[in-house]
Amino acid sequence: MPLVNMKQMLAHAHANGYAVGAFDLVSLDFLEAIMDAAERCRAPVILSLAESHFEYFDFELAMPAVVAAARRAKVPVAIHLDHGESLASAVRGINLGCNGVMVDASHLPLEENIAASRAVVEMARGCGVPVEGELGYVPGVEGEDAERHPGEITYTSVEDARRYVDETGVDFLAVSIGTVHGRMKGEPKLDFERLAAIDQALGIPLVIHGGTGLSDDQFRRLIENGVSKINYYTALADAAGVRIAANVAAGAKGYTAVVAGIRQAIAQEVERCIRLWGGADQADAVLAACEPWEPVEHIILYNLEGLDEQGARAMMAEGRRVLAPIPGVEVVDTGIAVQENAKYRYCWRIRFCHPAVIDSYREHPDHKAFADQRFRPHAGDRVSIDYQLVTRDSE
Ligand code: 13P
Repeated sequence: MPLVNMKQMLAHAHANGYAVGAFDLVSLDFLEAIMDAAERCRAPVILSLAESHFEYFDFELAMPAVVAAARRAKVPVAIHLDHGESLASAVRGINLGCNGVMVDASHLPLEENIAASRAVVEMARGCGVPVEGELGYVPGVEGEDAERHPGEITYTSVEDARRYVDETGVDFLAVSIGTVHGRMKGEPKLDFERLAAIDQALGIPLVIHGGTGLSDDQFRRLIENGVSKINYYTALADAAGVRIAANVAAGAKGYTAVVAGIRQAIAQEVERCIRLWGGADQADAVLAACEPWEPVEHIILYNLEGLDEQGARAMMAEGRRVLAPIPGVEVVDTGIAVQENAKYRYCWRIRFCHPAVIDSYREHPDHKAFADQRFRPHAGDRVSIDYQLVTRDSE
C-alpha cells in the first residue's frame, strides 16, 4: 500500500539532496508509464493531476484508477492536485483521493494570494493534507507553447517568499526563477542566486514548475539549491506525440495502432528524469521514513426511534448529500441490516482520508447541524467507532 504522506516524502528528498518527479497525467497510458518507470527505478513518485487539464479527461473517473495504481505500487507514491484554482477545487481533489494539493493564486496580488492560500491551508490541515503554494508567476500552460500565453515571468522575491510562507503556512513553495510551462523558445536562463537565497531563507522543500526543456546541469543546480519536487509534463506529451506521428507515417489507422508504444515512450522519458534528479533507489528509504497514507472508517451502528422506514431513508439520503462535501470525506455510505434481528438496524460508513478529519469533521458546521437536528434526536441507541485501516504488511 505505498500511498504515503507527501510532506514526509518531500522532507526526505529535501534532506537527502534529490528531487521527486511530479508527472502530470492525462490518460491511463501516462499513469501506467509513470508507474512503470518509477517501479523500474525503485523511486518515489508523485502522480500529478492538473486542473487545467480537466478538459482532457474526467477527474472523477480518473481518480479511482490513480488511487488503485498508487495502492498496488511497490514504490512510495503521492497523489497531487496540480494548479488547483480555488478552495472548492482543493476540497474536491482531497475528497477524491489527492493527498497533496497546490493552490495556485500566483496571478493575484500578494495580499490576495496570501488570503486564498491561507484558506486552502486551513482546510487542508484539517484533512492532514500538505499544501503547495506558488509565488511569482511562471507563464505558459503545460502542454502548450508557452509563447502563446503572454505574460512576463514575475520572479519570486526572498522577502515576499518569507512573508508568504509565514502567513499562509504552506508546506512547499513553487518559485519562479526563470522557467516557463510548456515549450519555450531559446535557452531558459535561471536565476540560481535568487533560488539559493530563497532556500536559505525558508528551509522548506521548493518546487519547480515548467521542468520541460531544462538542461541536465540546470536540473542538478536546482536540486543543489533546495528544489525537492519537479513538475514535468510537456516533454512526456511530446514523446507520445512523436510516437503517434511515427505510427501514422508507417500506415497505422485504427486507435490502438495509432497509439501503440506511447506508454513505452513516456516511460523512457520519465525514467531519464527520475535517474537525473536522483530519485532512483530511494524507494525503501522513503517507505521507511513515511507514514502510510491510510484512510479512517468512521462507523456508526444505530437504531432509530420516532422515524418510520420512509423517514429513515429520507434522513439517510439527506446525510449522504450534506456530509459528502465536507473536506476530507471520501465516501458516505448508509446501510440497513440484512438480518431482521440484528442488534443495530442501521449504519453509517463514512470514510475519512486521514485521522485528522475525525476532529475537523466533528466540528464542521454542516455535520453539526445534521447530527444535532436530524440524526441524534432519533438515534439515542448507537455506537460510534473510528477505525484506521491497516493495509500495509508489518515489517
Ligand atoms: P512542463 O510542461 O513545462 O514540463 O511543466 C509542467 C508543470 O509545471 C506542471 O505544473
